[in-house]
Amino acid sequence: MSQARITIDRDFTIADVPRRLFGSFVEHMGRCVYTGIYEPGHPQADERGFRQDVLALVKEMGPTVVRYPGGNFVSGYRWEDGVGPVEDRPVRIDGAWHTIETNAFGLHEFMDWAKEADVEVMEAINLGTRGVEEARSLVEYANHPGGTYWSDLRRKNGAEQPFDIKLWCLGNELDGPWQIGGKTATEYGRLAQESAKAMKLVDPTIELVAVGSSGRSMPTFGTWEHTVLTHAYDEVDFISMHAYYQEHDGDAESFLAESVDMDAFIDGVIATIDAVKAAGKHTKQVDISFDEWNVWDQVKFNDVESVEIAKAGWKKHPRVIEDTYNVTDAVVVGTLLNSLLRHGDRVKIANQAQLVNVIAPIRSEENGGAWRQTSFWPFERMARLAKGRILRLAVSAPQIETKRYGGVDSVDAAATWDEETGRVVVFVANRSLDEESDLTVELRGLTGLRVVNAETLTIPEGGDRHTANLETTQDAVHMVPLTAAEVVDGAVRATLPPLSWSVIELA
Ligand code: AHR
Repeated sequence: MSQARITIDRDFTIADVPRRLFGSFVEHMGRCVYTGIYEPGHPQADERGFRQDVLALVKEMGPTVVRYPGGNFVSGYRWEDGVGPVEDRPVRIDGAWHTIETNAFGLHEFMDWAKEADVEVMEAINLGTRGVEEARSLVEYANHPGGTYWSDLRRKNGAEQPFDIKLWCLGNELDGPWQIGGKTATEYGRLAQESAKAMKLVDPTIELVAVGSSGRSMPTFGTWEHTVLTHAYDEVDFISMHAYYQEHDGDAESFLAESVDMDAFIDGVIATIDAVKAAGKHTKQVDISFDEWNVWDQVKFNDVESVEIAKAGWKKHPRVIEDTYNVTDAVVVGTLLNSLLRHGDRVKIANQAQLVNVIAPIRSEENGGAWRQTSFWPFERMARLAKGRILRLAVSAPQIETKRYGGVDSVDAAATWDEETGRVVVFVANRSLDEESDLTVELRGLTGLRVVNAETLTIPEGGDRHTANLETTQDAVHMVPLTAAEVVDGAVRATLPPLSWSVIELA
């Protein structure tokens, strides 16, 4: 058994927990919308076609904000196609995912669904094939009270009151060669600046996210952010980050250390934002919207799935990247959540991509059931329990050797302290595949606490690190009690199982 020690001190805090850190993403892609959140005629669907079984799982998981409608999809999307009488809406091809888009589901349907799901809407505009005019028209349609062409069209289409969407993405991944209407950093920086200006002239209360790099490995990473922000710093509020991780060739040790990459990626973007801020003598602070992150087998998608999708021809809502998540994936998701929380002073929004079916914590079948993937659990627990202030941690743990990142701490953690309720919550992963970790959390300035609940997600009895929640075994992996966690002499003592992500609640 290895020994790990974490020290927390109520005086050493990072920031308030940004509630928008627990965001998700609904794209018109594969079966996220159609047969995911929306399936008219399904036995569990209401009169609007919203699947109530899926909605119940969404509410249980607790996302606070949901990005919509893409993703790569948005870069070829005409938002006007998705409003007005459904029978008049055009059927289009979606080049991004080689799909037939019926437009049966659009902005009004999403606003109604979001209200029911109790989530804030984060609306993305198309800056791939479209520009300033369509962007400002959409803000007018959504947020202007009435008496103008676009706002009256919204009212005619059934929404008397403005949608009042506060959070907007200025396009998606426009640095990517795969993106419809991709751009150079200068082309995009100017377009983002002018679109932002025009959108804020319609509604000055909105908050805007500029597109950052699609990933840390993009050849333009760093210079893209620098150029875009040099143009648009004063007009935007956030710059986006996207990252997807996967296990390569059975190298679980490196996979379990991916939050090291996420930490470094975030630190790099903060450095770039702050360099532009200093050079431009700006006073306001631009922060980060990590609006796509998750585990995703992109090698399989690029080498196999995308070829099959193209071969299959144009189809309505085909299966696309319906990755099945196992125990290892869920522990990695837990460590990525830890990394986001540790950076809550600058990462103010984060969206796990995506919500249902498409690399998602929730799965559903057409005319069938809905269930929680393994990755549902860390998200649900952190979204529900991370409250108050984020605590700074000092971690001392044995190192695990990894091919990608060299030596990494065997434990990965984040913690919060809610001054109002006195609750402290520690989220901690044991990255070791075979060794328990004897954990001590020293609590400085936090007296009189006891463990009120302790749970862990780990390999279930009879399973292994590849065990997943399938349609037939929907509950194989879930949170189970972490036994014998207790406070002794002002410190939490617990034994973390190998390959686990645990939550220890103190009150
Ligand atoms: O989430 C899946 C896709 O990944 C999104 O459409 C795109 O933005 C990213 O490349």
